[in-house]
Amino acid sequence: MTTKMAINAKEIFRNQHRLIRFIEQSIRLCSNQSLKTVQKHAKQQAEPDFQITTSISSEYTTAPEPIKHDKDVGQQFAAVQLAVRLAAPHQLQPKPDNDDALAFGKVFTDHMLKIYYHRSLGGWQRPEITPLENLVMHPAAKVLHYAVELFEGMKAYRGVDGKIRIFRPNMNMNRMNLAAKRSGLPTFEGEEYIKCLSRLISIDSEWVPHSEAASLYIRPTLIGIDPTLGVASSDSALLYTILSPVGSYFKADNDGAVSLLADPQYTRAWPGGVGNRKMGSNYAPTINVQKEAAQKGLQQVLWLYGEDHQLTEVGTMNIFMFYAQENGDKVLVTPPLNGLILPGITRDSILALTKQWGKFEVREEVITMPQVSQLLNEGRLLELFGTGTACVVSPINRINYMGTNLYIPTMEQEKPIHETIRETLTGIQYGKIEHPWAVTID
Ligand SMILES: Cc1ncc(COP(=O)(O)O)c(C=O)c1O
Repeated sequence: MTTKMAINAKEIFRNQHRLIRFIEQSIRLCSNQSLKTVQKHAKQQAEPDFQITTSISSEYTTAPEPIKHDKDVGQQFAAVQLAVRLAAPHQLQPKPDNDDALAFGKVFTDHMLKIYYHRSLGGWQRPEITPLENLVMHPAAKVLHYAVELFEGMKAYRGVDGKIRIFRPNMNMNRMNLAAKRSGLPTFEGEEYIKCLSRLISIDSEWVPHSEAASLYIRPTLIGIDPTLGVASSDSALLYTILSPVGSYFKADNDGAVSLLADPQYTRAWPGGVGNRKMGSNYAPTINVQKEAAQKGLQQVLWLYGEDHQLTEVGTMNIFMFYAQENGDKVLVTPPLNGLILPGITRDSILALTKQWGKFEVREEVITMPQVSQLLNEGRLLELFGTGTACVVSPINRINYMGTNLYIPTMEQEKPIHETIRETLTGIQYGKIEHPWAVTID
């Protein structure tokens, strides 16, 4: 083989995934044409009650405050410094055959993003994309002893037009930086991180499922890796990101609604704690309670707080209740951000959208179990649902509360609002509705 042929062969090998992607997109665009016709027809049959707007007024949601870095954080990283080391053929991960059937977080893509922080070297170091590989750290690393860890959960969606989008990433960056501050970890420039993340997604873009029932889950993680045992802020940290294609949240063997265990002896968060931050240490103590729920044949835990048994969250979701007031007017409520609740991005988006629709009252206020029981007895409780990035909206059909089953009529409504909300949000995420919340990856 001549040198020129060898170079050409190398080029073809390096770019073959682009060719495959091009062919896949062309096939999808053809099938989308027929899909669009079906969707148009379906839309004509069920005209929604709500006006689906293609923008959001700043009256209904506020952009997060820019993060103020502590002076001693040192230098920030920038996306222009990004170094890329592509996976060799033997490092490529096996790709699943059926994205829709993927279990959550079991399969990972070929590459990851890593950004080290070393105070002794002046602050954040150069970002790098590397093949997916194990991390090496000292056994005294703070993350291993004091759970100095926090994370985010985002998704990349392949739209009906073949473009890849992420949803309100600046909100995740803001939430992550707030958790970093609370953990004594260094804060960073969210916009620069999003540029690095976009590059990672575009390198692994063939892993973004070609399906509206699946997506690419993004797990940004920040850990303290200082190799010292003192309970103190970490002078070294690692901000890394892994990607995992995930299938449909709902399994085909149920109607999509979940049943909950509500046991007031367990609490997820408390005033002055960190229930409002996405730290790993919040999640470990929930696992055994979740196991108990499963043993009782229930799917999730409804986390209660206080003597009045306030509803705070459902598993790893925020909670919403839709009910009729005594005068018949309907109202959508979700608990306020009082420190016990994770400020969900889906939660914020639902509040903003429904306030803009203006079809019913929307309130942030405490919901208690006695209130739920009373509304049920009076036939005024219409829908109860959890919300989050993983499932968008998860309807609830039963609560096991202090040994009694409360049956919630969420799935019995003729035109449930949780369905309209789900359709709107997924419409934005999958590019069916043009919206500033959906950010396209180039
Ligand atoms: C405890 C908890 N509540 C709520 C949510 C929903 O948040 P988001 O809508 O940002 O995914 C999550 C998921 O991140 C969570 O872990």
